[in-house]
Amino acid sequence: MPLLARTWIAAARVRRRLRPPAARRARQDLIRRHAAGRSFADIGCMWGVDGALAFLAEDSGASAVTGLDLMPATPAFTAEHERRGSRMRFVQGDVHDPGTIAEVGRHEVVWCSGIIYHAPSPLLTLERLRSLTAQTLILASETIPEVPGLRQACVFLPGLADADRRAHAFARPGATALGVSEPFDPAQSYGAWWWGISASALGAMLVASGFEVLERHGDELHVTIVARPAG
Ligand SMILES: C[S@@+](CC[C@H](N)C(=O)[O-])C[C@H]1O[C@@H](n2cnc3c(N)ncnc32)[C@H](O)[C@@H]1O
Repeated sequence: MPLLARTWIAAARVRRRLRPPAARRARQDLIRRHAAGRSFADIGCMWGVDGALAFLAEDSGASAVTGLDLMPATPAFTAEHERRGSRMRFVQGDVHDPGTIAEVGRHEVVWCSGIIYHAPSPLLTLERLRSLTAQTLILASETIPEVPGLRQACVFLPGLADADRRAHAFARPGATALGVSEPFDPAQSYGAWWWGISASALGAMLVASGFEVLERHGDELHVTIVARPAG
């Protein structure tokens, strides 16, 4: 693994470890704070969470909740939806598909976590999120650390030589990340990590897509940005 890349990632890992644990609770706090009394959409609501963040929005007093995912509803989601007598609406589809966007419809608050670096064309994803967002977008993403002296850097991950790819896997030891901890395969589609995006690049992409950035939370390996439609 290239020594310079390893040092760059290792420094970010150390800084992350030094952060106070309170920083890690940000996502629940943000949902509680923004969902109350507003319509709320969770884009990518299923894998690993089974709708839990959409249910949290409902519990926080959201006026209407929609979840969207490529995946079908999981049995855990369906059971919890029934147990709660939830009114959350689930739409199965691709956020890039205009028909899906029309079906989901505009919401006051849009939460989208864990999708943008899985998208081959992240600006298209942001364009679609812009169409869905009436007031507030909360966008969470895994990130690469800022590259010293090179603001707004991104790394295109497919096709990286194994040694370079392993430098990125070193950021998250033990985690399975298709296209990072193991080689990229086009069949992985949206399951693969397509982009390593720095937080500054993500902020700039949001601005280029018609958003104004209001808040940033997280660390160098994961960021959550609160934004609103510009103008
Ligand atoms: C990494 S998981 C993140 C799950 C959850 N949002 C979280 O933050 O823990 C990404 C989720 O987004 C869904 N997803 C990925 N690409 C998508 C797309 N283009 N349209 C809709 N859902 C998508 C995946 O199926 C998966 O459920």
